[in-house]
Amino acid sequence: MRTPFIAANWKMYKTVHEAVAFVKEIRPMVKDVHDVEIVIAPPLTSVRPVVEAAHASNIGVAAQNMYWEREGAFTGEVSAPMIKETGAEYVIIGHSERRGLFGETDHTVNRKLTAALAAQLTPIVCIGETLDEREREETLTILDRQIKEGLDGLTADHIAGLVVAYEPVWAIGTGRNATPQQAGEAHAHIRGRLRQWFGGLAADQCHVIYGGSVKADNIRDLASIPDVDGALVGGASLDVRGFFEIITRSRPAAAV
Ligand code: PGA
Repeated sequence: MRTPFIAANWKMYKTVHEAVAFVKEIRPMVKDVHDVEIVIAPPLTSVRPVVEAAHASNIGVAAQNMYWEREGAFTGEVSAPMIKETGAEYVIIGHSERRGLFGETDHTVNRKLTAALAAQLTPIVCIGETLDEREREETLTILDRQIKEGLDGLTADHIAGLVVAYEPVWAIGTGRNATPQQAGEAHAHIRGRLRQWFGGLAADQCHVIYGGSVKADNIRDLASIPDVDGALVGGASLDVRGFFEIITRSRPAAAV
């Protein structure tokens, strides 16, 4: 059984002070939640302070991006070993904002994934179609390309430990989330391809989470879809109560 995985993607929001205050507030609220994996991805300046504030708790920490080289003349970039050194255990790779605004491609996603895995970080790799692609009925073809090229060269063991976030680009920050049917179809397709290309064991262990306008009032419907293993939450993760509510509502029914 895959434990539900709920990650907060804070994007470029929150100062160090605000990030640490959030963690100090939510930490006691979630201390008894052992049936959901909770991860926070703050801006880079707050990664280490959030690691410290979350120390010895059940809250994991992610960076939102990284570069694939170990070190070098790459002004403005940080490497996977540098992120690892902060104590963060996860890194988001290939978010659609990185693809759309900063020129990332399946090829760069693949290089970053390989470097993250070599540094023993757990990647949260984002895939998903744009509105144009959905309207042209290319969704499944786009997902196939993103999986094939993005995950190229990874082993079954890598896939087993990976978090794949299906985030339809048209649903991110728009208040318009995929219907359970649309999400269900995409997630089943992704799981099927992972099974076909990396084997059943890897596909069964890999977390495939949903992202795009997830809120407290839609998480239960989304989390109850068979192949949805949790969520990557942007806007609604910035508020402590809202994020806590999302975590609570994604718990396996028996435990709530
Ligand atoms: P959103 O963002 O929840 O604000 O739509 C999700 C994401 O970008 O990961």
